[in-house]
Amino acid sequence: MPQIFRPGANALTWMVLALAALLLVALVVVAAGYYRSPYYSQIGDRPAQPVPFSHKHHVGELGLDCRYCHTGVTQSDFAGVPESEICMTCHSQLWTDAEMLAPVRDSLRDGEPLHWQRVHDLPDYVRFSHSGHVNHGVPCEACHGRVDREPLTTKRETLFMQFCLDCHRNPGPRLRPPRAVFEMGWAPEAGTDRDALGDRLMARYHTPSTDRLTDCSLCHQ
Ligand code: HEC
Ligand code: HEC
Ligand code: HEC
Ligand code: HEC
Ligand code: HEC
Repeated sequence: MPQIFRPGANALTWMVLALAALLLVALVVVAAGYYRSPYYSQIGDRPAQPVPFSHKHHVGELGLDCRYCHTGVTQSDFAGVPESEICMTCHSQLWTDAEMLAPVRDSLRDGEPLHWQRVHDLPDYVRFSHSGHVNHGVPCEACHGRVDREPLTTKRETLFMQFCLDCHRNPGPRLRPPRAVFEMGWAPEAGTDRDALGDRLMARYHTPSTDRLTDCSLCHQ
């Protein structure tokens, strides 16, 4: 019978197998790293905008309320971005010649809305509603972070399913009284039992049960 395998082939086979296993592990590690990386999650993304609008300036320093510009946020699924008319309530008097604001003036003159680039964008198969959250004690800050400190709007949270579920499993400690929903950096008075406050707020808002809030059909039709 002719010899098919040379002596030592066994060792070679094992070496090849070991190498393949190592490669596989390396691949999984790289893939997992990629999934958690800012590149995939888009954390820190700051798309170029037609006008370098600063929340730090307008919210942090001038103290404007979110609802002044994001007018849809308590009534609809969408917060919406402001129309140029809203900017011009001030900028028809202030910084009227600023080059930076030329796109806003042109937009108003031509009746063409500015093309603000999206910072956050969920896939279409996910259901989400702003009014469903902010009218029930969930603050802007829980999902968008301290926009009042941002010279340019930046993505702060992944908004992946895990992020939503982390809160849906135990929303109490994240809820705020109605007056604090739009506030940045709010904290309850020193000495407040946060869990007890959370329970009171859940009762007040009639927050649905954890079972309901983690049901797939809540977010996926
Ligand atoms: C003077 C108007 C104005 C006020 C007040 C304002 N915003 Fe904005 N906001 C804008 C504009 C213009 C954009 C679009 C450009 C950008 O992304 O920076 C925007 C974008 C955003 C985005 C990113 C939207 C996206 O594309 O995903 C978030 C989040 C946001 N605002 C939250 C807030 C919160 C929270 C407040 C209140 C604390 C607030 N804004 C107050 C004008 C305003
Ligand atoms: C309530 C009044 C008010 C509204 C509404 C407003 N701004 Fe302003 N904005 C100001 C003031 C005041 C300054 C100047 C601040 C300074 O000189 O320190 C300013 C400055 C700016 C600047 C240049 C300075 C900087 O660093 O931000 C830009 C760009 C700007 N605004 C864009 C916008 C846009 C776009 C909108 C509409 C989405 C808007 N503003 C709405 C009051 C307003
Ligand atoms: C529970 C989390 C959550 C809260 C609370 C929240 N947002 Fe959002 N926001 C999102 C998500 C998710 C998106 C992306 C929606 C999409 O892609 O359909 C978004 C998008 C936006 C946008 C882009 C335009 C739009 O309507 O999609 C703006 C502006 C915005 N949010 C402002 C606000 C403001 C202002 C508040 C508070 C008054 C707020 N958000 C509260 C999660 C939240
Ligand atoms: C910080 C807490 C928090 C985060 C983060 C959060 N939610 Fe919620 N969500 C709630 C609470 C509390 C309710 C119940 C509101 C009520 O009392 O009806 C809710 C309700 C909902 C509802 C049902 C209400 C409606 O409008 O139909 C949907 C859908 C939903 N969330 C989707 C999402 C998605 C998608 C995300 C992630 C992008 C998310 N949520 C992130 C706290 C949160
Ligand atoms: C609170 C809202 C919420 C609930 C409840 C929820 N999901 Fe999701 N789901 C999301 C969001 C947001 C995404 C989008 C993540 C992204 O941007 O990649 C998502 C994405 C997915 C995806 C796409 C793959 C992925 O992981 O990105 C699958 C599959 C999925 N969900 C299945 C489920 C199943 C099964 C359940 C019930 C056990 C469930 N979801 C419950 C919010 C939710």
